[in-house]
Amino acid sequence: MKVRELTPAVGAEISDLDINLMTGGEFDRVVEAWDNHGGLLFRNQNLSNDAFVAFASRFGELEAAPVMENGRTPVPGYPEIYVVSNVIGSDGKPIGSLGAGEAVWHTDMSYLENPPDASMLYALELPPAGGDTWLAGMSAAYEGLPDDLKEKISGKRIKHDGTFNSGGFRRAGVEVREDPRESIGAYHPIVCAHPRTGRPALYLGRRRLAYVEGLELPESEALLDELWEHATKSEFVFAHKWRVGDLLVWDNRATLHRRDPFDAKARRIMHRTQIKGATAPNAV
Ligand code: SIN
Repeated sequence: MKVRELTPAVGAEISDLDINLMTGGEFDRVVEAWDNHGGLLFRNQNLSNDAFVAFASRFGELEAAPVMENGRTPVPGYPEIYVVSNVIGSDGKPIGSLGAGEAVWHTDMSYLENPPDASMLYALELPPAGGDTWLAGMSAAYEGLPDDLKEKISGKRIKHDGTFNSGGFRRAGVEVREDPRESIGAYHPIVCAHPRTGRPALYLGRRRLAYVEGLELPESEALLDELWEHATKSEFVFAHKWRVGDLLVWDNRATLHRRDPFDAKARRIMHRTQIKGATAPNAV
């Protein structure tokens, strides 16, 4: 097995590894690479649903997949697999979530007290163009902050909104509030320490309806805009062009991700699993 850095800020490609045949020693090296790079790309995999769930389970206990936008539960027999897809099923409803539009920068489910530690996406069917998934490295972004901004956010927390998903869809049963201080969500430190490496990282969640605790709203908005502009600069970002059989694993404590839109008439089917949060995100 080989590990190749994809960008200095985030991502490594693991090659010469068939996940179906992975040994314990190889898995240890995978975790080490994951801690060093925040995101991992495995090409040319051939994962059944059982093998996908078994691989994900090696990282920790799995989250039950959230109820999808179509109100359905996910893949029959696999409650941990969530379907990200725009494909319309025989009943006229999408078989998965997030449609074909852009999914804006975010980290998964940070509106929970214990958000998932990691997420992984496996490509089953892809459009001819578009639908690239981007990662941004939040440890590098934190390290690259000017000192005055580091000072400004030290000890502060963000409220992470749970009203909308990254595709802009309102979550089932949630009432929309215009004031972020009144919407549902959880507070987390802006700078979190990775539980294994201790490396500090920006933990921003998503921009929409976010709020910096203790600030007046306009002040909070201005600080969030400044942080988001910095965190998503090209120097911290890797854009992944998918091939069928690719598996992308990211650490929600060290990365943000987003997705490009694609032609709604084309088909894209991805399976996702998530590792439960072992702890709430910790302040440095
Ligand atoms: C997501 O935001 O979790 C989905 C990313 C993708 O569809 O590539």
